[in-house]
Amino acid sequence: MVQRKTTISLIKCDVGSLAGHHVVPKPLFNIAKRNLKNAEDDGLINSYHVFNAGDDLQLLMVHGKGESNPEIHKLAWNTFQEAAKRAQDLKLYGAGQDLLKSAFSGNVRGMGPGVAEMEIEERGSDPVVVFAADKTSAGAFNFPLFRIFADPMSTAGLVIDPSMVGGFKFEVLDTMENKGVILKCPEEMYGLVGLIGTVGRYIISRVWRAKDSLICAVGSVTKLSKIAGKYVGKDDPVLIVRSQHGLPALGEILVPFMHSYLVAGWMRGSHWGPMMPVGVKDARCTVFDGPPRIVALGFQVSNGMIAEGDDGKPMIADLFDDPAFDMARHEAMEYASMLRRMGEFEPARLGVEEMEYTSLPQLLKRLRERFNPL
Ligand code: F6R
Ligand code: MG
Ligand code: MG
Repeated sequence: MVQRKTTISLIKCDVGSLAGHHVVPKPLFNIAKRNLKNAEDDGLINSYHVFNAGDDLQLLMVHGKGESNPEIHKLAWNTFQEAAKRAQDLKLYGAGQDLLKSAFSGNVRGMGPGVAEMEIEERGSDPVVVFAADKTSAGAFNFPLFRIFADPMSTAGLVIDPSMVGGFKFEVLDTMENKGVILKCPEEMYGLVGLIGTVGRYIISRVWRAKDSLICAVGSVTKLSKIAGKYVGKDDPVLIVRSQHGLPALGEILVPFMHSYLVAGWMRGSHWGPMMPVGVKDARCTVFDGPPRIVALGFQVSNGMIAEGDDGKPMIADLFDDPAFDMARHEAMEYASMLRRMGEFEPARLGVEEMEYTSLPQLLKRLRERFNPL
């Protein structure tokens, strides 16, 4: 029997927002839903779900075309273009913000939108979680990915499940040098932590189960500032994670979010801020343009589709819409108030290396001529 292959594509873009960089407004959702519905009717994709994380429009598509497929990428690109045009007409804020390049040539990578894609051979049952964060950068997933796939104090299966005791392999990208390295845990755990602790430079892009190289996680690794050469909003990353039956359980994937942690981004992409796990209804950035928020959606990949309910609609679980994450939300606001008390003083503000693409160089330039030798 030929094994069916299914692709999960999560492609996102900030095409414009209501009342500042705060939330995706309805008219833009409607364009995305219509376009993806047409693509489903035409048989290009098998299932879709449109949602938002703050001001980022998220297109979740399940299909059989493989990763980096030009037709799928064109669908996303055209949808973002159309939504940006509508945003422009409505004079919404930041219309077309992430559409950094104009000449589309088959792949949205390197053009502004963020992409996470995973082609899988469907297992007997394949639970999947997708994460989307706003007002932060791709390195924001390093910490939870480490906890999920390498930390035996967080994922009990690393100790208890014989399918997992062989560990996991991590692909880490060096975004400065444009190079990648694969490290295997538990053997190379200290080296891995040494790299990925530098969240502004090293980013986990893929994770595989070591014993059979089963793909388990794929993250988006776009550095918008590297494409644009200046600050154009944070990367607002997305992540796809497979779950259960010899992989971390759903609860082991979510438990790192029981506590808030600090990520780079927030106001003007220039501050450390607390990650706040929220349900989709609360995926709106407000206080100091944040705090950085993350949503998690769970679903089943089933015969090339997202498993559907009796109404013929994909069944999507809004995983952080749950009192179990109230404590993390509360912690996030406590950290937020502590950090904001420090104003524009490090470490509340990012260090000078991360500020390279903001207005700081211009400020320094202006003041430079006023410095006198001592
Ligand atoms: C962060 C972000 C916002 C803006 C801020 C200023 O990723 O997008 O915090 O940087 O609202 O925006 P402008 O310069 O557009 O007024
Ligand atoms: Mg924006
Ligand atoms: Mg955003």
